[in-house]
Amino acid sequence: MGKITVEALKDVNLDIGAGDFVSVAGPSGSGKTTMMNIIGLIDTPTAGTVLINGREAASLNRRELARMRREYIGFVFQSFNLLPVLTVFENVELPLTIGRKRGGRKENRERVEYLLEEVGLADRRSHKPAELSGGQQQRVAIARALVTRPRIVIADEPTANLDSANGERVLELMQTINREEETTFIFSTHDPDIWKLANHVVFLRDGLIEKEQRR
Ligand SMILES: Nc1ncnc2c1ncn2[C@@H]1O[C@H](COP(=O)(O)OP(=O)(O)OP(=O)(O)O)[C@@H](O)[C@H]1O
Ligand SMILES: [Mg+2]
Repeated sequence: MGKITVEALKDVNLDIGAGDFVSVAGPSGSGKTTMMNIIGLIDTPTAGTVLINGREAASLNRRELARMRREYIGFVFQSFNLLPVLTVFENVELPLTIGRKRGGRKENRERVEYLLEEVGLADRRSHKPAELSGGQQQRVAIARALVTRPRIVIADEPTANLDSANGERVLELMQTINREEETTFIFSTHDPDIWKLANHVVFLRDGLIEKEQRR
């Protein structure tokens, strides 16, 4: 930030196992988004290394990075980042149409429909993001992150804009997919009721890992 250096993360040493359900907890400004962006290969750290599946992120070229992000990682942004000109259905379907196709068209549609049903937005499939509430947009972003069956899903405050009923529904969906598809979940939250559900909780404060709990 100009002449001021902000150390958003310091001495972070973190090991996340395949199939873990990890919560990153910490107050505003503690470094949660920065950490998620680094794990999700969206940002690169000024020092240190990120290893995914044994491969060092810094050794990947741009194409390999893009491919890793597209095929291996699902990301739910704190600010959703939906495409305004596409409908709800098209937003969720998009990762399937730009990536390498895993299934046929029918399979892809069924996956989109299943996820829209699960996040409670089947009846909004033809709407544009601007016609939805913040919580509904968040649920579209969650469905989009899950559609390719990524090995790792990174969700930055996925329940922050949801009431408790919809928050629970989203968490149940993440837990089901964690169990059935053995997807690794890493999500940040301020909410103690939510981090209690994780089997690995990382507490951040001022960019440092304050403590870790594993169950
Ligand atoms: N682009 C940037 N330039 C300078 N400082 C930044 C930048 N992005 C974030 N920071 C700073 O880094 C620190 C960590 O920010 P980060 O967004 O990771 O926090 P957070 O835990 O996600 O907060 P919140 O709960 O409010 O989303 C903060 O002090 C923030 O001001
Ligand atoms: Mg944040």
